[in-house]
Amino acid sequence: MATAHQGIDSSNKTLLKSEALYRYVLDTSVLPHEADCMRELRLVTDKHSLGFMQSSPDEAQLLRMLLKLTGARRTLEVGVFTGYSLLATALALPDDGRVIGIDVDRAAYEIGSPFIERAGVAGKVDFREGTAREHLEKLLADEENIGAFDFAFADADKPNYVRYHEQLLRLVRVGGVIVYDNTLWAGTVALPPDTPLSDLDSRFSAALKDFNARLSADTRVEVCQLAIADGVTICRRLV
Ligand SMILES: C[S@@+](CC[C@H](N)C(=O)[O-])C[C@H]1O[C@@H](n2cnc3c(N)ncnc32)[C@H](O)[C@@H]1O
Repeated sequence: MATAHQGIDSSNKTLLKSEALYRYVLDTSVLPHEADCMRELRLVTDKHSLGFMQSSPDEAQLLRMLLKLTGARRTLEVGVFTGYSLLATALALPDDGRVIGIDVDRAAYEIGSPFIERAGVAGKVDFREGTAREHLEKLLADEENIGAFDFAFADADKPNYVRYHEQLLRLVRVGGVIVYDNTLWAGTVALPPDTPLSDLDSRFSAALKDFNARLSADTRVEVCQLAIADGVTICRRLV
């Protein structure tokens, strides 16, 4: 059975119903402002067998804007892959900013790391190999990290978003921002329950439906659900 993300790459990753409109948005407001190093990494990643996993250029532009609007300095990324969103983050951070990127897949990160070097922002990037759960727990074990981060982007294994949310809420300061990717999972979260889906899609879609409902009821955060890319949810920590 086809999976919900089959045939998707960075040129068509959108929930917009009109491909022409998405192309217009990319051509008019996004791609003219994409840094050369970002474009080069994105096109290399598009050729990777799992290239559909990388964030889209309009999502990277959103992250960049959010990082700048919030004046973020200390940030976290859960789920790095080849580093497209990590590079967007490093480029958006001030000179003394830092992003800790966590991923189990060092080989994927190594595809992107020369682009990060060439962009001159490697000094802002601290890549940590291993599971997000383990690395977030390690960070939480140090009192100095509690409430010390301004921003986090979560884009790893979706069924664990519920767990990451609890961890990230303690690491990100009050007023700080946590962004979750893929929260609409190719639109499957709104399909009738009897719609046939691949095993992975039904598991991830169900997990995201549960996560979205929990977030909406979570009084510790203010939530904004965006229908760009594969669904992006912005949370602002309130308490
Ligand atoms: C959707 S990709 C990240 C895309 C990336 N943000 C970008 O813009 O290119 C998800 C990544 O999460 C990683 N991942 C999956 N499960 C993980 C886990 N339990 N802990 C850490 N990383 C994990 C995968 O190895 C994969 O590289």
